[in-house]
Amino acid sequence: MQKKESANSNLNRASAAKNDEFYTRLTDIEKEMGHYKKHFNNKVIFCNCDDPKESNFFKYFALNFKFLGLKKLISTHYNKGNKSYKLEVMEDINNDGVINLDDAVKTDLISDGDFRSDECIEILKEADVVVTNPPFSLFREYMAQLFEYKKSFIVIGSENSISYKEIFPLIKENQLWLGNTRPKEFIQPDGTAKKFGNICWYTNLDIAKRHEDIILYKTYSGNEKDYPKYDNYKAIEIRKVKEIPLDYNGIMGVPITFIDKYNPMQFNIVGCDYDVKCGLMPEIENKLWQGKLDRGYINGKRIYARVFIEKRR
Ligand SMILES: C[S@@+](CC[C@H](N)C(=O)[O-])C[C@H]1O[C@@H](n2cnc3c(N)ncnc32)[C@H](O)[C@@H]1O
Repeated sequence: MQKKESANSNLNRASAAKNDEFYTRLTDIEKEMGHYKKHFNNKVIFCNCDDPKESNFFKYFALNFKFLGLKKLISTHYNKGNKSYKLEVMEDINNDGVINLDDAVKTDLISDGDFRSDECIEILKEADVVVTNPPFSLFREYMAQLFEYKKSFIVIGSENSISYKEIFPLIKENQLWLGNTRPKEFIQPDGTAKKFGNICWYTNLDIAKRHEDIILYKTYSGNEKDYPKYDNYKAIEIRKVKEIPLDYNGIMGVPITFIDKYNPMQFNIVGCDYDVKCGLMPEIENKLWQGKLDRGYINGKRIYARVFIEKRR
């Protein structure tokens, strides 16, 4: 019998095989970019993992160049081990009254267009906002570079990255958050579509969603049995984000999906299982506990990964 593939197992396999060739659909780019118009005005946009001939990112920004008020659009093509090129759109070079794909200027690169190469880093320095779907297998390195050069960005990644030790601290310190929409399908090099279950956008640009409170309706008082204390952490377990109680002032363990709804004016992120395991949150460890601190345990049963939050007073 053929085994049914889940969308998440597709992603895990893609990551394991370092199969980075998945192209983003124009419709998914349009849906997300609609939330950032004010951030694009008079800005240099850089798509640094994008074959300009294939990339819908390049297409989107070229076609909307005037509407978004862009200053310049640059896209570099990665051609591993071979000389590559970049395409730039800046002005109406063919004098047809519009700025679009027909105004793209092609320039050879010295190397293969690796986002880490010196010449791509020089372009990065010139850019204001980086927008792309980078290779999943290099996500940590890719994000580290964006932070090193203090860039604004809107990039696609796996939701699994939230718990990476390189990414979670950035979320906790409010330097990185999740975008608005969820691309569910990508195009493969042979033109067929492939579904993924846990892909999201990561950004450091302000968006309205980040200022919206999670609507809470449950109380802790009177429902204590629904919020058990962990055996190993001094915190209560919240099974579903929507069940976060209105009236609890201590530390709460919530599912990682909380990050998608997180408003830093409503809650404070104090850590995650990883932090407790590494001794970074000694204040929430139950010192009498003899077992592991890798995850929360309730009556000896290991719970899914949790983020620890508290209400902002
Ligand atoms: C997930 S695909 C997305 C492609 C395109 N950004 C899109 O969304 O349609 C990631 C792309 O990154 C390219 N890539 C892989 N390693 C790279 C590197 N070191 N530097 C730049 N691009 C790279 C791959 O060739 C691949 O096309």
